[in-house]
Amino acid sequence: MHALSGVLYTLLMASAPALAQYKLVKDYSGSNFFTGWDYADGFDNTTNGAVNWLNQSAATTANLTSINSEGRAIIKVDDFTNLPNVTVVTDQLKRDSISLSTHDFFGVGSVIIFDAVHLPFGCSVWPAFWTRAPNWPHGGEIDILEEVNLVTNNQMVLHTDPGCTQADGVTQLGTTKGSDCSAGTSSRTGCAVTETQPNSFGEGFNNAGGGVWATQFDESGIFVWFWNRSVIPSDVSNTSQSVDPSTWGTPSAAWPSSSCNITQFFQPQQIVLDITLCGDFAGQPNIYQATCGKPGETVVANTCYADNVNGTGANYADAFFEVNYVKVYSVNSTVLSPSVSGGSTVFSTATTTASAGGSSGTNASGSGSGSGGNGAAQGPMVAGLTVLGATVVAALAWAMM
Ligand SMILES: *[C@@H]1O[C@H](CO)[C@@H](O)[C@H](O)[C@H]1NC(C)=O
Ligand SMILES: *[C@@H]1O[C@H](CO)[C@@H](O)[C@H](O)[C@H]1NC(C)=O
Ligand SMILES: *[C@@H]1O[C@H](CO)[C@@H](O)[C@H](O)[C@H]1NC(C)=O
Ligand SMILES: *[C@@H]1O[C@H](CO)[C@@H](O)[C@H](O)[C@H]1NC(C)=O
Ligand SMILES: *[C@@H]1O[C@H](CO)[C@@H](O)[C@H](O)[C@H]1NC(C)=O
Ligand SMILES: *[C@@H]1O[C@H](CO)[C@@H](O)[C@H](O)[C@H]1NC(C)=O
Ligand SMILES: *[C@@H]1O[C@H](CO)[C@@H](O)[C@H](O)[C@H]1NC(C)=O
Ligand SMILES: *[C@@H]1O[C@H](CO)[C@@H](O)[C@H](O)[C@H]1NC(C)=O
Ligand SMILES: *[C@@H]1O[C@H](CO)[C@@H](O)[C@H](O)[C@H]1NC(C)=O
Ligand SMILES: *[C@@H]1O[C@H](CO)[C@@H](O)[C@H](O)[C@H]1NC(C)=O
Repeated sequence: MHALSGVLYTLLMASAPALAQYKLVKDYSGSNFFTGWDYADGFDNTTNGAVNWLNQSAATTANLTSINSEGRAIIKVDDFTNLPNVTVVTDQLKRDSISLSTHDFFGVGSVIIFDAVHLPFGCSVWPAFWTRAPNWPHGGEIDILEEVNLVTNNQMVLHTDPGCTQADGVTQLGTTKGSDCSAGTSSRTGCAVTETQPNSFGEGFNNAGGGVWATQFDESGIFVWFWNRSVIPSDVSNTSQSVDPSTWGTPSAAWPSSSCNITQFFQPQQIVLDITLCGDFAGQPNIYQATCGKPGETVVANTCYADNVNGTGANYADAFFEVNYVKVYSVNSTVLSPSVSGGSTVFSTATTTASAGGSSGTNASGSGSGSGGNGAAQGPMVAGLTVLGATVVAALAWAMM
C-alpha cells in the first residue's frame, strides 16, 4: 500500500509540470492587440470622471491607442489639448481618454494574465484593469489593478451582491482592508486587499520594469498574483500555451469559496482596461487630499480638476499604459460571445483558435489552443492524468486555505 502510494505520488509529481489545467483561449498582443475590444464612446457616466471616452476611430485619429515599435499596446490620456480654466466643469471640458472592454466574456474556470511595462500615474489619474458581468453591477466585479493619484501600492477588490465575504485568516501576501464584498453599493469599498510587495503601482512599478498580474477565477475561489519583472514564473510568458496556478505559491489576494460561493455571485466576466481622471475615487476630496493635496490647500469637489485637468495637459505625459499582452486561459477552452436577446444578455459558447504571436479569434468550429505546449498531445493517458491531477490540485488548494 505504501509502495503503491509512493508510485502514485512520484507519477503525479513527475507529471505535474505537464498537467497545466488552463489552456490559452484569447491572446491580445502585438499588432492585433486592439482586435476584440470594444471602445466606450461618451462621457464617463459610471464613475463621474472628468473624461470623454473616444471610440476606436476617434482614438486612432487622436493617437490615444497605438502599437509602439516594440509591439506593445499604448493606451493613453490626451496630453496635448489645452482646456480652458473653469470653476464649473461641463462635459464639453472633459479630457479625452480610453475605456476598452473585451467583446468576449470568460466563465468560472479562467485565468486572466496582464503584463504591463508602464502604468498611468500622477495626480488625478485613475487607471484600472478589472472585470465585470453583463448586468454589472450585479454578477460580480473583480478589480485586479486599480489605484489613484500618487498611491504606491495596488489594491485588489471584489464587488458583489450581499452574501459574499472574504474568509477570515486567508493565506495571502496582501493586507485585508474590508471583508464584506457587498459593502458600498456602487462605491469603491468592497472586500479590498492592499498589495504589500513593492512596486505594484505608479512610478515605482514603471521604474522596476513593470510586472504581471494573474487572476484565477475558479470554483474554489478568486486569487490574484502579482510579480515584478524579475520573478515572473516560467509558465507565465508571451508564448505560453498553458498555465498552472498550483505552482505559483501564495497569491497577493485570496477570496476562497468557503465564504463566497463563486458560481452564485459571479457571472461570466469581460475584461475592462481604462483610465479616468478625478471622479468618485481619485477626485473624492478626502482621498485627493491624502494622496495629492498640497500643504495648506483646501480640497473641495473641484480641486482635483482645477489642479490637474484644465490647462495644457502636459502633466499627463505619464498617463499611459504600455502593455505587453493580455491573455486568457481556460479549463474547458471556451470563451463566451454575448448577444442581447429580449433585454438580457445570452452567451454562445465557442472554442477558440488563439495562438501566441498575436492572432486571436473565436470560432464555433475551431480546434483547441494549438500544439505548441509541453508535448501535451499524448492522448487518453494524459487526459486521464489531467483529471486526476486536477483533483489533487483542488485538494491542495483547499488545504492551503
Ligand atoms: C454610458 O455610456 C455608455 C458608453 O460609454 C453607454 O453605452 C451607456 O448607454 C451610457 N449609460 C447611460 C446611463 O447613459
Ligand atoms: C466616433 O466619435 C466621433 C467623435 O465624437 C464621431 O464623430 C463618430 O461618429 C464616432 N464614430 C462612430 C462609429 O460612432
Ligand atoms: C502615437 O503615439 C505613440 C505612443 O505614444 C508614438 O510612439 C507615436 O509616435 C505616435 N504616432 C504619431 C503619428 O504621432
Ligand atoms: C490658467 O491658469 C494657469 C495657472 O494659474 C495660468 O498660468 C494660465 O494662464 C491660465 N490660462 C488661461 C487661458 O486663463
Ligand atoms: C485650472 O483653472 C483654475 C481656475 O478654475 C486655475 O486656478 C488653475 O490654475 C488652472 N489649472 C491649470 C493647470 O491651468
Ligand atoms: C466551461 O464552459 C462553460 C460554458 O459552456 C462555462 O459556463 C463554465 O463556467 C466553464 N467552466 C467550467 C469550470 O466548467
Ligand atoms: C521583486 O519581487 C521580489 C519578490 O517579491 C522582491 O524580493 C524584489 O525586491 C522585487 N524587486 C523589485 C525591483 O521590486
Ligand atoms: C453555490 O451556488 C451554486 C449556484 O447558485 C449552487 O448550485 C451550489 O449548490 C452552491 N454551493 C454551495 C456549497 O452552496
Ligand atoms: C510578444 O509580445 C510582443 C509585444 O510585446 C509582440 O510583438 C509579439 O508578437 C508577441 N508574441 C510572441 C509570440 O512573441
Ligand atoms: C471560422 O470558421 C469559418 C468557417 O470554417 C472560417 O471561414 C473563418 O475564417 C474562421 N474564423 C476564424 C477567426 O478562425
